[in-house]
Amino acid sequence: MPCSATKLEEARIYEAREGAAIPAEARPLFHLTPYVGWMNDPNGFCFYQGAYHLFYQYYPYDTVWGPMHWGHAVSTDLLHWEHRPCALAPDTDADAKGCFSGTATTAPDGRLLLLYTGVQDDGNGGAKQLQCLAAGDGTDFVKDTANPVIGEDLLPDGGSCVDFRDPKIWYEDGCYHCVVSTRDAKDQGRILLYESPDARHWTYRTTLDSCHWEYGKMWECPDFFPLDDRQVLLVSPQEMEGSADGEFHAGFGTVALLGHYDKAQARFTREQVQTLDYGTEFYAPQTVLTPDGRRILIAWMENWATVNEAPRRHRWFGCMTMPRELFLQNGRLYQRPAREIEALWQNTISRRERLNGTAAYEGIAGRHADLTVTLDAAACPDCRRFTLRFAADERHATELCWTPSCSELLLDRNRSGSRRDIPHIRRIPAAPQDGKLTLRLVLDGECAELFINGGERTMAIRLETPAEAKGITFTAEGPLQMEITHHQLG
Ligand code: FRU
Repeated sequence: MPCSATKLEEARIYEAREGAAIPAEARPLFHLTPYVGWMNDPNGFCFYQGAYHLFYQYYPYDTVWGPMHWGHAVSTDLLHWEHRPCALAPDTDADAKGCFSGTATTAPDGRLLLLYTGVQDDGNGGAKQLQCLAAGDGTDFVKDTANPVIGEDLLPDGGSCVDFRDPKIWYEDGCYHCVVSTRDAKDQGRILLYESPDARHWTYRTTLDSCHWEYGKMWECPDFFPLDDRQVLLVSPQEMEGSADGEFHAGFGTVALLGHYDKAQARFTREQVQTLDYGTEFYAPQTVLTPDGRRILIAWMENWATVNEAPRRHRWFGCMTMPRELFLQNGRLYQRPAREIEALWQNTISRRERLNGTAAYEGIAGRHADLTVTLDAAACPDCRRFTLRFAADERHATELCWTPSCSELLLDRNRSGSRRDIPHIRRIPAAPQDGKLTLRLVLDGECAELFINGGERTMAIRLETPAEAKGITFTAEGPLQMEITHHQLG
């Protein structure tokens, strides 16, 4: 069925007019926001013809979720994004109810391939989710006439096309591979592996892993890649249960399954499970391999559970995290800000302080900052608690409180401008490493991202705090030795 260009053209005309009218000051500096309207998951994150391309779940016409399009932006440094015309609109029989999440890969002939979930009517008042292909030059994409290319007939026993989505495609050893998530008849999330010689004709190979009712139910948005000597499977589970040790919180989660992959047998052996981000807003991450070999991750910096509670202050809604570099350390998956951020550093201040009480320091303030505080816990056994307050004025403050005696970090954003009854508190494990605890906080307007101990744990946090609340203060209850490095970002 040929696709009518009308919906796509409409979206492109609309966004060019409305998106261009949004002033740069109404957006974060380097967290990608939609051109106009609504954004959720990152899609098709890739490096293609000399630039990073990041597509995203997009509804240009309103700041709430609607029939899904794919928005598109490009960047050479993962921080400054340029909007490109809408890439996909729900305009064929195979995706009339939405172009859901998917990924991209470069074909041997140089075309950029997008593999995504097309949602279509099931003829009984419901919807089916099946996988569709589009190919293009990095701006314009033509949907395959054979769509859906992974249909219902390719679902293994127990799989269901009610939940069958979010393909991650890659090309390796002369063949295309993709993993797709589904919820089976027993209500558990499963990650299915498919293979194809041409990205159009697929065969089902195996189920790589499933949640066994342990880490949530449906697993959304899988990513699957090698990192050093391990294999990483990222999934975003719905309906997670919280755990007593603070590793998993209830609700929507993002989980990294670390293990080994036997390619020849297509067998993934899971060895370890950890949360990917412990903040209040983080979901559906995707990764890209950079030309210099780094694995970079970007996630949607929102939470489905609270998204309808969030105020609509702008003509856009939803944003992405900053790019984060993944690496393995101490047997865990770590994340640190991509080093590209260093090009934004300005007016660097470094201090060593011995603190007992509350202090603010000249030049350390603002809402666009990259701040690192290293607490010398081993040298200061009498310090009972440390609190970092940011985005603060007389009425507002977002607090990170660390209690050494129980190695716990508490996020409190009860005074971060929200008037809604959403989670404002998170408690997570945070133990010193070699006697020190390091907190690196990256601020970009209404976005805050925390990296603990060089990336052992991270927290993505959205703030509603007014832009004028710029204060940063440090409080030690009991004497504390610390080092501070503060860069403004601009
Ligand atoms: C995850 C998700 C995906 C789906 C998309 C729809 O946030 O639910 O599973 O493809 O959003 O917008």
